Amino acid sequence: MKRISLIFFALAMMSPAFAEAPRFWITTGADTVPTLQKGFELFSVKTSSDTALIEMSQAQIPWLSKIMHDKFNRCGGFFFHESKEKAQKFLEQSALNKKFESLASADYSINQQGLINPLIDKVSEEKIRQTITKLAQYNNRYYDSDTGVQASQWIRDYWRELAKKRSDVTVELFNHSQWKQPSVIMTIRGSKLPQEVVVLGGHLDSIAGFWGRANARAPGADDNASGIATISEVIRLLVDGNYVPERTIKFMGYAAEEVGLRGSKEIVEKFKQDGINVVGVMQLDMTNFRGSDKDIVLMTDFTNAPQNTFVGNLITEYLKIPWTTDKCGYGCSDHASWHAQGYSASMPFESRMGEHNQDIHTNRDTLDKSAGNADHAMKFAKLAVAFVVELDR
Ligand code: BES
Ligand code: ZN
Repeated sequence: MKRISLIFFALAMMSPAFAEAPRFWITTGADTVPTLQKGFELFSVKTSSDTALIEMSQAQIPWLSKIMHDKFNRCGGFFFHESKEKAQKFLEQSALNKKFESLASADYSINQQGLINPLIDKVSEEKIRQTITKLAQYNNRYYDSDTGVQASQWIRDYWRELAKKRSDVTVELFNHSQWKQPSVIMTIRGSKLPQEVVVLGGHLDSIAGFWGRANARAPGADDNASGIATISEVIRLLVDGNYVPERTIKFMGYAAEEVGLRGSKEIVEKFKQDGINVVGVMQLDMTNFRGSDKDIVLMTDFTNAPQNTFVGNLITEYLKIPWTTDKCGYGCSDHASWHAQGYSASMPFESRMGEHNQDIHTNRDTLDKSAGNADHAMKFAKLAVAFVVELDR
């Protein structure tokens, strides 16, 4: 092998392209470095634990492939990057991915019927409707308006009230430096695996008009008082059912979604920085307008396919109602913030794309567009209870 490598090296050096050839960066296993150093003149080598970042000439790449194949039995066996910066980004990302792979071990088996069926039997249309009605009464919940701030505070206080008998629950505002409205996060501390987290979230802000205005009327009954009311009902069902989770469960009302997923982006980046192990995320954004013949539509873009399969199976097992899949076509809600950072997110939606409530983002997004009731949202509350409990056990 040594002799073969030397021949490769000599051939590579003879290539007239060698001197002026553009340089490339590869990342590969650190175990290959001694062999590569014997065979090639490498411009630079940096190793960290099990990976190496190597700068080499483009002309050397064919030889590199051959050595990887012959000596290390690897097909390819290295990643190719156009710049040092891109290579470094890649290394950081794969180190993080590794960390999450070893931590998160989502089990998508479905076997908690004994716990889940009694909980979802108690879902209340009236409670969901009352919360939607309350939130739609704010002039708006715009991310930079005073009523937008008051709405966040009301949600915090309501969630605290729901959980007041529990010593394992905290409810806090998550402040954002760039705008007024805080996000709201409720945490039920896990009793066995507190460092593993299941997230149920939705945005709490509303908007009217393309640009949004701090004083424009934006009831946002469906978008997204419905999601927050559904999450609130899940909290009520779990607390009233004395459900003590093994993992930590976090309920989130995100600020500033309507202006570019900004609240969730900051929260998810913080989670990523802190290396928090999130087992799964469900996003509820628009749950109360039945616009399609299927009751629940799972968005397949900017979400995690295996987890979506699991959510579909949960609908079949616990709700026994028709569902289908569709795409938003863009990062249409906060699940995209989680997805962008490598977390597994799903988004069960009220209808097919295009058959949804057409009055969102106007002063007409009111509960009467859903016949004045919260029947449709009840299905999402049941689904979210099943999601949280099955991922918890
Ligand atoms: N609830 C909507 C997303 C939505 C609307 C999904 C209609 C499916 C059908 C969300 O609050 C929203 O309005 N998102 C923005 C995008 C965001 C990046 C500002 C949108 O859809 O324009
Ligand atoms: Zn919206």
